[in-house]
Amino acid sequence: MLFLKLAICPGSFDPITNGHLDVIERASKLFDKVVVLVAMNASKNAMFTPEERCELLCRATVHLPNVEVDTYSGLLADYARERGAVAIVKGLRAMSDFEYEFQMALTNRKLNPYAETVFLNTSAENMYLSSSMVKQIARFGGDISSFVPSEIYEEVKTRLCK
Ligand code: PNS
Repeated sequence: MLFLKLAICPGSFDPITNGHLDVIERASKLFDKVVVLVAMNASKNAMFTPEERCELLCRATVHLPNVEVDTYSGLLADYARERGAVAIVKGLRAMSDFEYEFQMALTNRKLNPYAETVFLNTSAENMYLSSSMVKQIARFGGDISSFVPSEIYEEVKTRLCK
């Protein structure tokens, strides 16, 4: 019987950046299938709706045949269980990310011991990149072309410059 190893790449993705895409591309080489999941972060006010974020993610990951995009409003651990995921993949930029990510990893393991959290270190050129930085730069008319995937650049710029 063919056993596919499925991983979830969760995040707010508001919007997806080149840093996210780098982690998704690398995860897609490690696992048979990767679900990029737009999940809810209660401590953040989103700029794009979950559906808009999924649409942007679909466009940016169209070149990755084993990547699917989905959204979920419940607990990540429950979604991972429903999909039979073996891993939750997160990107780590700097030590400043670690404490928060470590806390989430331990909580998720308690809620669902079958999905192992795997951290991929971000590429050096994306160390400083975050969705909130991209939004700030775009709002003040700055150039975000090297921070977001080319497939979504125009849409994100137009939307955030308004
Ligand atoms: O990109 P972010 O905002 O750092 O991603 C955080 C996210 C969305 C992955 C996290 O908040 C999450 O998993 N939300 C789903 C609800 C949940 O399971 N919360 C408990 C996490 S321990």
